[in-house]
Amino acid sequence: MKRDKDLEVPKPEKHFFLKRDVVENLDRIAALAKRHPVNVLVAGKQGCGKSTLVRQFAARNKRPFATFQIGILSEPGQLFGEHRLRKGETYYQQFLFPRAVQTPRCVIHLEEINRPEHPKALNMLFSVLSENRTVWLDELGLIKVADEVIFFATLNEGDEFIGTEMLDAALRDRFYVNVLEYLPPEVETTVLRLKADIGEAEALTIVNVANRLRSNAQEPMVVSTRHTLMIAELVNLGAPVKEAFINSLQMSHDVLESILLSLHVELGLREKDAGKGYEEY
Ligand SMILES: Nc1ncnc2c1ncn2[C@@H]1O[C@H](COP(=O)(O)OP(=O)(O)OP(=O)(O)O)[C@@H](O)[C@H]1O
Ligand SMILES: [Mg+2]
Repeated sequence: MKRDKDLEVPKPEKHFFLKRDVVENLDRIAALAKRHPVNVLVAGKQGCGKSTLVRQFAARNKRPFATFQIGILSEPGQLFGEHRLRKGETYYQQFLFPRAVQTPRCVIHLEEINRPEHPKALNMLFSVLSENRTVWLDELGLIKVADEVIFFATLNEGDEFIGTEMLDAALRDRFYVNVLEYLPPEVETTVLRLKADIGEAEALTIVNVANRLRSNAQEPMVVSTRHTLMIAELVNLGAPVKEAFINSLQMSHDVLESILLSLHVELGLREKDAGKGYEEY
């Protein structure tokens, strides 16, 4: 069984950067939630900071926080609880979700809302997300969402979705939307430097190589911020940048070698000021 500690206010994460308009929008969402129920959708590619954004929102606004994996649900009631057997008798075991929705001001993170195992699994969620924010369960009776609860759904744009049409029709309509992009090179370099505690030059090389792989015309590779951070951590522990890439991504020495070679020419040619408009959230 989940314990009370699951509903604590999370600690803020250091060095998490967002575009200024996203920050402003999130502050408006926080204000709106005091007036009426609000749902927020955060979309973006893998590892671009969606989950961190939701947790950080809770931390910044000193709200309790809970996360639920929607991508693994296979039936409608599964979030709420299940029937179990003990000493030959069945009983209903309530899960964390009903408690979270009944916790005032809770930030409820619904992960991978676009990928439930079964489309019907979302049916009961629709009720709590709708305007009247109530849902009936035979086992628990009428559940009413507490005051100022905010639902944040995250989804990976670019994946092959299951049930996307349903998301468009019934769900998207109920959400404010924030789309996150990968960070511009200047800001990603700063993140690597601060989070992995490496030098500016090393951080810049990692970001430049990653951007080469990302924009490779023949075979673009998905290299998330999560991944550049993993590489930076290896470099922090003494790995040469090249080794760190090879040990983090599936790629050949040759490809990497040619990118590194070509970058020596380009390292000085970065655009200045491209990181403007981002701030620590
Ligand atoms: N904008 C950013 N600033 C600082 N760190 C970031 C940023 N984006 C991502 N990271 C770091 O990258 C890692 C992955 O982020 P996170 O788990 O939030 O991504 P996600 O979009 O939820 O990924 P997934 O698609 O796999 O669910 C975390 O360690 C996070 O702190
Ligand atoms: Mg996530």
